[in-house]
Amino acid sequence: MTVTPPKLNSIKTQYVKSVGLDPERMPSHVAIIMDGNGRWAQAQGKHRLMGHNQGYLTLKKIVMEAEQLGLKCLTVYGFSTENWRRSPEEVGGLMRLMLVAMRAEIDELIQKEIRVRISGRLHELPDDLREEFEEAASRTSLFTNFTFNLAINYGGRAEVVDSVRAILQKVRSGKILPDQIEERMIGDNLYAPDIPDPDLLIRTAGELRLSNFLLWETAYSEIYVTPTCWPDFDRDHFIGSLKEYQMRTRKFGAVSENGLI
Ligand code: FPP
Repeated sequence: MTVTPPKLNSIKTQYVKSVGLDPERMPSHVAIIMDGNGRWAQAQGKHRLMGHNQGYLTLKKIVMEAEQLGLKCLTVYGFSTENWRRSPEEVGGLMRLMLVAMRAEIDELIQKEIRVRISGRLHELPDDLREEFEEAASRTSLFTNFTFNLAINYGGRAEVVDSVRAILQKVRSGKILPDQIEERMIGDNLYAPDIPDPDLLIRTAGELRLSNFLLWETAYSEIYVTPTCWPDFDRDHFIGSLKEYQMRTRKFGAVSENGLI
């Protein structure tokens, strides 16, 4: 396996160089676990939902920065299959925030030609939010430069289960035999088979775990964890994480070119 950096136009190349990054070693796909909204709010004596509101403002900035830096895709963990266990107030607040955010941002996303995708069990979301997401995905579906992939009602295990179910339908209808099931087929039936695996996974707020995020896709992703809570994560933190990524040697189970590590 090799790493193919995104092809950058001259404006993006200039910009990438200007912030001290190497255009030849940029990741194509960055995934983010945006953690720490609640802790950020509670540390200031504010309601947890204030942390999510602030997290939305951070997300806006990081999406635009990722596009400017020439990444091909940014995937963020917006709501997990386990997040339904939070208080009804917090779950309701998050659903409303996502609805308001999508309505507020769609024009700018279209103007910047950003493709919106949703990964997750969309059918279990409230109708108005599901429709808003479906409309955003459909209105931006032809854009090819940059994809903003929102993992909503997403669970890595649920995603693999859904993939296996889709494959079993093909077995049942006689399109394939059980013996023909191979790794690639699981990947091809995940929520976003057209998006390459993340090169870099960023987790804010310091926890050292995957929390059921992109379990299949992160097999060989580089992981970067920062103690900074998501609402405080800014452009400099983001560029810093990309610099750290550029110092890593990716081996995909093989040995490095000089054979030393
Ligand atoms: C994790 O922090 C964050 C979430 C569960 C929600 C992320 C949502 C946003 C950033 C809001 C904007 C989203 C969209 C899609 C517009 P936490 O609440 O688990 O933090 P804690 O661990 O400190 O409690």
